[in-house]
Amino acid sequence: MDAEWVAVASTEDLARRRKLRVEVDGVAIALFQADGEVYALADTCVHQDRSLFKGTLLHGKVICPGHQWQFDLETGYEEDQDRCQPTYPVRVDDDGTVYVNPVSRGDATAPSEKELKA
Ligand code: FES
Repeated sequence: MDAEWVAVASTEDLARRRKLRVEVDGVAIALFQADGEVYALADTCVHQDRSLFKGTLLHGKVICPGHQWQFDLETGYEEDQDRCQPTYPVRVDDDGTVYVNPVSRGDATAPSEKELKA
């Protein structure tokens, strides 16, 4: 499974704005840093395709700039709309390199990949 991990950024890159937009295999992914954790969600909003990277971080959620849907950073779930934004497993190495596994979890109950060791 390790072959799936793609280095996309460093925690240093995220430190300033706490968000970053990257592309993996042509898929736009929005990275967010909150409470010392890094999260990866599909950048294109499931509602009407706005860029989540341009959203606002608030209390463990990202608020889409389009119509203010609020997606949970961990699960992508939007409780008022009962929909999910795709999320991706993230791994951060000791040197601060941020890896994303571009295979979408698609399952909000999947265990956090952040616990995995390199
Ligand atoms: S485009 Fe994201 S909430 Fe409408």
